[in-house]
Amino acid sequence: MFKLMLDTFQRLRYHLPLKPRQVQIEITNRCNMDCPMCPREDLNIELEHMDWSKFVTVVDKLNERENITLTGWGEPFLHPRIFDMITYCKNNGHKVMTTSNGLFLKETILDEILNTDLDELTFSIDGVEDNNVFDGHTSDKVYDNIKKLAKKKKNGKPMIRLQSTLHKGCEKDLYDVIRFGARIGIEAINVGRIDRKYAPNLKRPGPLEEEQIFHEADRIANECGIRLDWLQYAVGTKMVRYFTDF
Ligand SMILES: C[S@@+](CC[C@H](N)C(=O)[O-])C[C@H]1O[C@@H](n2cnc3c(N)ncnc32)[C@H](O)[C@@H]1O
Repeated sequence: MFKLMLDTFQRLRYHLPLKPRQVQIEITNRCNMDCPMCPREDLNIELEHMDWSKFVTVVDKLNERENITLTGWGEPFLHPRIFDMITYCKNNGHKVMTTSNGLFLKETILDEILNTDLDELTFSIDGVEDNNVFDGHTSDKVYDNIKKLAKKKKNGKPMIRLQSTLHKGCEKDLYDVIRFGARIGIEAINVGRIDRKYAPNLKRPGPLEEEQIFHEADRIANECGIRLDWLQYAVGTKMVRYFTDF
């Protein structure tokens, strides 16, 4: 906590760390979903998997035990060497995370995930059964995969998060995701604000409404005993909690 406060204070004074602590490698920008909100294809970049030698070159340049997230706009589990990539990063001393839509094309993926040393896996879901979300991540098959992984994981690994983007009028779906996560033993929920740069027609709550939703989501998360990480409110609420916990 002290480190977080010191870091935040330094950043407010524009004193940034000289080396990155977090590195994100987009190992593929191909995907098996076609979400209306996702800018993946609007970026006009060729859709391809990163080749192994380029990947190794990037990872070999890191030497500070950075946390590596193997995700960009594409679906990482489509990459034919994702498990080799996870192992390579782990063997080089890094903590490894990735984010997935959970729509696995092979039955074996769940077991392969359990057999690697992946530290954190985030599943993107914007609602659970019977939801109102039209522009986001929702699929019955995905809920099943998340439940199976949460049930089968060993020794607490990988830590599983659910990640939702908040769509206008869909706060009930977010609350359902929080309750679903707590019910099946997920450790944390991330919430993100929709970026409308490439899809200005997307609807998201205004600032006041969003803040009210945050407080209700936070109340539900506390009630269910699950951690809620919401970037826009992180520093304020974590500091308040730190001082009120004494
Ligand atoms: C693009 S996906 C890529 C990783 C993986 N295929 C998945 O679906 O989780 C990464 C995250 O970006 C989020 N995302 C997509 N479009 C977004 C947008 N316009 N604004 C904010 N987040 C967005 C998704 O909800 C997802 O959690």
